[in-house]
Amino acid sequence: MPIPFLTHVLLEGPPDWMPEAWTLVKWTSSIGALALTKWYSAGATNKAEKNLHGRVILMTGGTSGIGAVTTYELAKRGAQVVLLTHQSPSDPFLIEFVEDMRERTENQFIYAEQVDLSSLHSIRQFATRWVDNSPPRRLDAIILGAATMTPPGGARKETAEGIETTWMVNYLANFHLLGILSPAIRAQPFDRDVRIVVTTCSSYISSPPLDKALEKNTWSPKGAYARSKLALMVFACAYQKHLDAYKRPDQLPMNARVILADPGFTRTPGTMRWLSRGTIWGLFIYILMYPIWWLLLKSANMGAQSILFTVMDSSMGPGRNAGGKMVKECIQVDYARKDVCDEEVAKKLWESSDKLIEKAEKEAALKRAKAKKAEEMKQEEAREAEKVEEIDALLETIAKGRAKKAQKEKEKEKEKAKGNKDGKKSKSAKSK
Ligand SMILES: NC(=O)c1ccc[n+]([C@@H]2O[C@H](COP(=O)([O-])OP(=O)(O)OC[C@H]3O[C@@H](n4cnc5c(N)ncnc54)[C@H](OP(=O)(O)O)[C@@H]3O)[C@@H](O)[C@H]2O)c1
Repeated sequence: MPIPFLTHVLLEGPPDWMPEAWTLVKWTSSIGALALTKWYSAGATNKAEKNLHGRVILMTGGTSGIGAVTTYELAKRGAQVVLLTHQSPSDPFLIEFVEDMRERTENQFIYAEQVDLSSLHSIRQFATRWVDNSPPRRLDAIILGAATMTPPGGARKETAEGIETTWMVNYLANFHLLGILSPAIRAQPFDRDVRIVVTTCSSYISSPPLDKALEKNTWSPKGAYARSKLALMVFACAYQKHLDAYKRPDQLPMNARVILADPGFTRTPGTMRWLSRGTIWGLFIYILMYPIWWLLLKSANMGAQSILFTVMDSSMGPGRNAGGKMVKECIQVDYARKDVCDEEVAKKLWESSDKLIEKAEKEAALKRAKAKKAEEMKQEEAREAEKVEEIDALLETIAKGRAKKAQKEKEKEKEKAKGNKDGKKSKSAKSK
């Protein structure tokens, strides 16, 4: 078919229905440019494979966007995935998500544990439970994928423990979680390839200074997000050194590796909230502009590729990787900022984070103790009020009983008096 057609075009010129050559060039180059843009923005595909049967993976943010795809891919390869979610395991949407995931991956080993990353207390409760397990639970990977973003123009918010929310969920929660889980990571046998994958974002490049994280007047949604990601990266680098410094009882080198993964700009519920500014009008505009987002942003599936690479590629394991590396588009890349692996910056951040957690946990514990006491007092008062009510009711019954008895006696006396009168009357009638 193409050969006769081309011969016809060459010998007799193009047919009437065919557009002019210039129009044809314009159309093909436009379509080619679009296809090239789409191909470029879709990013790289992970080629690494690994049998994950029997491997235990803890994961935050595994129920939405990039995280949900990652959960699916890991479970499909047989991993036992423990999802740390802020919903309770009895939440109907979460139950449906887990059941659907189990069905689609034919893997029953997908579980959900309630861990609210905006609460230090919730993180401590979960992590201490995990660490307290004896013998130590198997742990092959921890994927830290959860994050929050305040849409542009949004107000600064604080958690119930008084910490700025973006800083807490995106950075401090991970610092706290890994801090408590340290013994469980270090207790893994020497031949286990343990990976800690920290999800980051290129926004860290434009981060404002880390020491201004808790300032209220310089806060902005974009700055807070970028800063939380920079802090996370500085911590990730320092955490690898912290693990390496541990002397194992068997004298063998540390077998856990911390790896940073940047998924690239992706169409996810989080991105949609950011682009639509969290408003109905914004959502309407987002839907209208969807072809542009489709063209320029990755799908969640493509966003998950670098994370899957860090979990499965052999070059990321303890044998060939010193840890603290960053992966983007399924290849190792350098940091765009020198301070990511600066020991002085890390030391300051670590110390200030420790102090902040100690202060917030003390205050929260005090608040909880006060609330518990107030609740106990309330219950005691309710019990007292109940007792008083019972006594009042008893007294009322006694009083009623007495009144009834008195009434009955009165009536008896009346009848007696009446009987006496009648007796007298009949006696006098008889005597007459
Ligand atoms: N999307 C992008 O363009 C992009 C680019 C670069 C880097 N990243 C990074 O990639 C990761 C995934 O991004 P995404 O866009 O897929 O995220 P997403 O759709 O916004 O999902 C965020 C996840 O974090 C969880 N989460 C939020 N607050 C939580 C809390 N207090 N406690 C427990 N879980 C909480 C959410 O749980 P619920 O669903 O239950 O709320 C959800 O599973 C993030 O770390 C993000 O920073 C994303």
